[in-house]
Amino acid sequence: MCGIVGYVGPKNAVPVLLDGLTRLEYRGYDSAGVAVLNGHGLEHRKLAGRVQGLRDLLGRSPVRGSCGIGHTRWATHGAPNDCNAHPHLDCTGTLALVHNGIIENADLLRARLTQEGHRFATETDTETLAHLIEDSPGATLEERVIAALGHVEGTYGVAVIAETEPGKIVVARRGSPVLLGVGDGEFLVASDASAVLAHTRSVVYLNDGDVAVVTSEGYRVLDREAREQDRAVDDIEWDLEALALGGYPHFMLKEICEQAETVRSTLRGRLLFSEGTARLNGLNLTPAQCARIRRIVIVACGTSWHSGLVGRHVIEELAGIPVSVEYASEFRYRRLLRVPGTLTIAISQSGETADTLEALRVAKGAGSTVVGIVNVVGSTIARESDGGIYLHAGPEVGVASTKAFTSQLVALVLLGLYLGRQRGLAAEEGRRLVEQLAALPDLVARALELEGEVAQLAERYADATNALYLGRGVNFPVALEGALKLKEISYIHAEGYPAAEMKHGPIALIDANMPVVFLAPKDAVYAKVVSNMQEVRARGGRIIVVTSEGNGDLRHLVDHQLCVPAAAPLLSPLLTVIPLQLLAYHIAVRRGCDVDRPRNLAKSVTVE
Ligand code: AGP
Repeated sequence: MCGIVGYVGPKNAVPVLLDGLTRLEYRGYDSAGVAVLNGHGLEHRKLAGRVQGLRDLLGRSPVRGSCGIGHTRWATHGAPNDCNAHPHLDCTGTLALVHNGIIENADLLRARLTQEGHRFATETDTETLAHLIEDSPGATLEERVIAALGHVEGTYGVAVIAETEPGKIVVARRGSPVLLGVGDGEFLVASDASAVLAHTRSVVYLNDGDVAVVTSEGYRVLDREAREQDRAVDDIEWDLEALALGGYPHFMLKEICEQAETVRSTLRGRLLFSEGTARLNGLNLTPAQCARIRRIVIVACGTSWHSGLVGRHVIEELAGIPVSVEYASEFRYRRLLRVPGTLTIAISQSGETADTLEALRVAKGAGSTVVGIVNVVGSTIARESDGGIYLHAGPEVGVASTKAFTSQLVALVLLGLYLGRQRGLAAEEGRRLVEQLAALPDLVARALELEGEVAQLAERYADATNALYLGRGVNFPVALEGALKLKEISYIHAEGYPAAEMKHGPIALIDANMPVVFLAPKDAVYAKVVSNMQEVRARGGRIIVVTSEGNGDLRHLVDHQLCVPAAAPLLSPLLTVIPLQLLAYHIAVRRGCDVDRPRNLAKSVTVE
């Protein structure tokens, strides 16, 4: 997601825009820019990097104007560099816009506009919209914006200014938030209230489909047919910090709770229902290359390594390709065998983890093709990979990775489906999985409804000193992930193990003080996991089980049962992990830990 801001009124817009962008940096921070109407025409400044860099640039090369727009970017299409930074201009350079969202049919629109003679300067989907408005009919800027948006598929929160109509900002929203700040003789537009709060507490929240025309005299809200709409003026009661957090107490909880939306975002535009496969444009693997793959090596660290373990099950099941999953930090010390047909997958939320980057380079050096599964667009791992799958999960601010994990799982299923359908997976099976993936966001939303129950459960275990997490098959990695979440933010020692492995040592740890968390969705290994639970019970262990909704037959065996929606076995980790994320979070909060900045940790480990 990105942050957009606009100002029109008696003041110089630039300081207002910069302060607003600083407030919006939590939404994205890989590049920034502003455009203003300076009384003679349109001027803009933009560059890669944080808003402070833009502030410095404007100090060296100032622009002034009483009407302007600004943007801080979270790249989705096109690397985060000076050129791809917003604002984007039309061919004449007299119209500028900033955009938050994804234009899904940008490639088609770009091809048509290019054919009509438009010249593109960037790799972004957003620039398409600038040329589309330039190309659209209408007596006013708002009419041209409405006409252009009629051709757009996807999501947008957009602000537009043009030399032809100085002192006017046109904004529109569909799927990405935009609000108006109503000041005294001055008006603002922004992605959220944190960018306007310093100037006014009165805001108008636009609805999807709304277009608003904002000048220093006031604003009008229109629908798609340019008919005036009434929108209430609300008063903001939050303080600034609370606004950036969207009302959540911590970024980690915000990111846990937005997983239905981030899973949807990772899936967006990638499900081909009739063909029963996935569209992965950035993968850069031809059908011939897919056919030649003999083995896959996954390299990653921490949570990303756990998603790789799930990915092994998924890819072996769907594509029939043998997969090994390596700690990136260990992989690089092995004698690397040059095995033709090796595909290496580097999984990394930040795209900057030094161990994973080094492993990628070693793999490339041994002749392997490398695919990156990354959240941060344009990050080093993304740029050094031969192709990849972006998560589109938005910035993950909390140090403990949550939404990136579930989006990595989605990306791995999409990859397994794509490869499988190239290598004999039946279309009918592919179509079934596509339907199951499409239903996933709603199942994730239902799993998130467990929060209240988990928060109560956390009260009982906040004083634990150790914990065991046990799972089998595709849920063994979830046991590892649940243990990592607990230990890294609550500082309770926790270990994840294959449930069957418990008999080979860890069972000695079981006593009434050792909470044991079992992953036991109703799947092919359910009965065996229940046997392990009985072994723990027989030794006085306290059991928390995550199982499928409607499964009442464990109540006699466990101390607490958390039920998640049933799902296809390969997709169940996306659901079983959610109560574990919530449990770790609520236990850490009760222990007074700094949940978003846990001790000794960093969000991206860029040292080896
Ligand atoms: C996960 O909660 C941890 N913060 C950590 O293990 C993290 O997953 C690991 O450092 C890898 O980071 P990456 O995904 O950005 O490469």
